Amino acid sequence: MQLKRTHTCGELNIDYVGQEVVLNGWVDGWRDLGGVFFIDLRDRFGKTQVVFSPEISPEIYNRSKKLRSEFVVAARGTVRARPDDAQNSDLPTGAIEVYCTEFEILNTSKTTPFELKEYVEVTEDLRFKYRYLDLRRPVLQRNFILRHQLAQTTRKYFAENGFLEIETPLLTKSTPEGARDFVVPSRMHPGKFYALPQSPQTYKQILMVSGFDRYFQIVRCFRDEDLRRDRQPEFTQIDLEMSFVDEEDVMVVMEGFMKHVYREMLGIDLITPFPRLTYREAMENYGSDKPDLRYDLKIRKMNDVFQNTGFKIFSSVLDKGGFIGALVCREAFGYSRKQIDGLNEYIRTVGGKGIAHFKKSGEQIDGGISKFFSDEEKELLNRHLEGYTEALVLIIADPDAEKSQTMLGFLREKLANDLNLIDREKICLSWTVDFPLLEYSEEEKRYVARHHPFTSPRMDELPLLGSAPQQVHARAYDLILNGNEIAGGSIRIHRRDVQEKVFATLNISREEASKKFGFLLEALEYGAPPHGGIAFGFDRLTMLLANTESIRDVIAFPKTTSALALMENAPTFLPDEQLRELGIKLAVPTGKTRENGV
Ligand code: AMO
Repeated sequence: MQLKRTHTCGELNIDYVGQEVVLNGWVDGWRDLGGVFFIDLRDRFGKTQVVFSPEISPEIYNRSKKLRSEFVVAARGTVRARPDDAQNSDLPTGAIEVYCTEFEILNTSKTTPFELKEYVEVTEDLRFKYRYLDLRRPVLQRNFILRHQLAQTTRKYFAENGFLEIETPLLTKSTPEGARDFVVPSRMHPGKFYALPQSPQTYKQILMVSGFDRYFQIVRCFRDEDLRRDRQPEFTQIDLEMSFVDEEDVMVVMEGFMKHVYREMLGIDLITPFPRLTYREAMENYGSDKPDLRYDLKIRKMNDVFQNTGFKIFSSVLDKGGFIGALVCREAFGYSRKQIDGLNEYIRTVGGKGIAHFKKSGEQIDGGISKFFSDEEKELLNRHLEGYTEALVLIIADPDAEKSQTMLGFLREKLANDLNLIDREKICLSWTVDFPLLEYSEEEKRYVARHHPFTSPRMDELPLLGSAPQQVHARAYDLILNGNEIAGGSIRIHRRDVQEKVFATLNISREEASKKFGFLLEALEYGAPPHGGIAFGFDRLTMLLANTESIRDVIAFPKTTSALALMENAPTFLPDEQLRELGIKLAVPTGKTRENGV
């Protein structure tokens, strides 16, 4: 390569006029204006207009006409000020252009399968197959610059706060985050498998036992679970653990981290401490353990109002100890029958039974279920809804209080989106605390840990583990940003007897516990300090900082929602010989495509 760049394509401005420069980059676009040929040359740093004119050199001008989009070009030339009417104030380089005196085509390009514009309207499958082209788009380049900055700023903050970066194995043993494991067969031990870690949870606890005091790692985790817009099968955590701490210590350091990130990256000063909501408050008021606090629209508990109702559905819910909640929405007062039907349909698609409604207009209670209300009930409602002159009241009732709240949470979110109630400029961070330690799994017919089984119960509630396990609270905390869970953690159990009690409540036998986590249980017996930690979803945090909708926009080579890697084509079948070597015989038919492992 002869023409090495002297400047980047985002650098030149009016100060450089008259200078000779060399630029290297891709042809972003070209225009043949009969007599003069223009290209925009693009690299990571920006775009610069390069002009090929027969006045400078007829040979160069003629050769330039071959240039097409995405050709790789090196061009030498002189910086000139653009004529006033040709300036582009949207581009940092928009006041100048480079008059080419020499150029080299470093590589040609086929016509790309889609135009590499800021926003493309092609399927994600096509973008992922040609991810290297997709990633050339400035919008994605910006996301990865941001991701890089977040990683750097993370390392800086935690290193400055006494945390040590320590790596933990990827070839390991099943870890307990509740998803399925990805497994790796062992050639040296046929029939045995490593598991890829769902998180470094057990290792970081052991590092505390080893006395490292404060650990962090930006680490890849693997979970075989159903994917969504904010979930990938392999994703990255900022993983942390601290010794000799309680909940408040961990939360304060993490609030400091968020403050640092927003200040360094966006120049925004966050106010700390962040609000702390108990799990119960979050569920009762917002119908979610990750409430979006950018808008109000709180759930109103209506159990008392309907205490003596003649409306059968509500009275039977109350008899069963359920929850009746209402969303009182001024902005939806004008909703038509059809719009309300639409909300009902939505609630059914997310697993609910339906919504009851009525409208309040002045003292009038009309429509929907209002015909079932007595005059006293209407009066009671009027008192309860004082201050609302016109509102649509949407009610969900279910014998299962949590289910009713969850459905109201979905409805709250839907209304906020439909009615544009969300202030997109707001940054609302909050902690959810006081989670129940356990939840009952109908599927497994046993209690399972809500976080993971190493989460400490509240010690004053320890005796309840045997008698009323559902009443025990966890020393866990989740950090919520605008309705997204960006981090979760807890104070851990650091005593073997307590850990064994929790395992027993989870119906995990001594043998099973010892087989799965014996190494950790044993480590707890050698002077394990009290400790606790947390892990941030690094991709999720980047996604929110980049203001994008999908986690896939901030992962360089993401998988599709069905966990496929479309560019390199993974997963693949293995050739028979490789399977033999691993001692694996497949029980599934694999068809012809098996040949050569494709
Ligand atoms: P948890 O399972 O809550 O905790 O994970 C921590 C954070 O990781 C992010 N996250 C994900 N991001 C993308 N794709 C996924 N599939 C995915 N799953 C989780 C979330 C979540 O808040 N060992 C514990 C942490 C601890 O207790 O210290 C753990 O892994 O943002």
